[in-house]
Amino acid sequence: RKKITIHTLNQMKEKGEPITMLTAYDYPVALLEEKAGVEIILVGDSLGMTVYGMDGTLPVTLDMMINHATAVRKGAPTAFLVGDMPYMTYQISKEEAIRNAGRMMAETNCDIVKLEGGVEMAETVAAMVKATIPVMGHIGLTPQSTAQMGGFKAQGRTAEEAVKLIEDAKALEAAGISLLLVEAVPPAVLTEITKALSIPVISLGAGADAAGQLLIVHDILGFFDRFVPKFVKKYANLNETIHSGLSDYVNEVKTGKFPEEKYTYGMKEEEVKKLKD
Ligand code: KIV
Ligand code: NA
Repeated sequence: RKKITIHTLNQMKEKGEPITMLTAYDYPVALLEEKAGVEIILVGDSLGMTVYGMDGTLPVTLDMMINHATAVRKGAPTAFLVGDMPYMTYQISKEEAIRNAGRMMAETNCDIVKLEGGVEMAETVAAMVKATIPVMGHIGLTPQSTAQMGGFKAQGRTAEEAVKLIEDAKALEAAGISLLLVEAVPPAVLTEITKALSIPVISLGAGADAAGQLLIVHDILGFFDRFVPKFVKKYANLNETIHSGLSDYVNEVKTGKFPEEKYTYGMKEEEVKKLKD
């Protein structure tokens, strides 16, 4: 496959060809997503939860993100790679945002960085874009501000809140974002945002009316046997598959079934004899 660029994505949007996007956090999953033809891969700070077992995304550091994004790029050389900016790496000042996003771009070879926020981030976004850093916006449910939102909750469910989200989307586009992620808002709100913008909009749990769809890979593959958000459709049950493989291994070692002879290296009789003498 040819390298996916922002032009590829803009053309897909123009042609009405749906864009697929998934998260990935490591090399093996990146290889599989590239093979499946996923166009955009997000190395999300959701790795705090999916990979590190944290309660949220706030403890995730830039170094963690850079390490994971570097591994994902190795497995997915042609995907459009999004490096997610973790908590407090872009909120403090434009200078810090540019310095930290610059590291993400230069050290991981990603194609764009993503940050959360609307109108209040517009000036920072404009400064980053001026400094050559492509930016993807993220509005709606923004996990880095769950303390202010009162938890992981759908957003924009009143007309007043929805109007604010549309203003956020427009301000971000005017500031120069190349892509916008809209998370956990009702489909009617997504439709208005998509209509208001000319850049590709990606939906995460916000319905179909967007240029593309994003889901968390651990959710769609059923990696955990715990709660998943309403918008997650499960396409595999890795939890069962992996659990069954692991239990079989444990049982076979405990009962002496493994390792059978075919899983060992041969040695000539005479050598064995010499060894024993
Ligand atoms: O970190 C992440 O995976 C994300 C998605 C939830 C949009 O930002
Ligand atoms: Na994120």
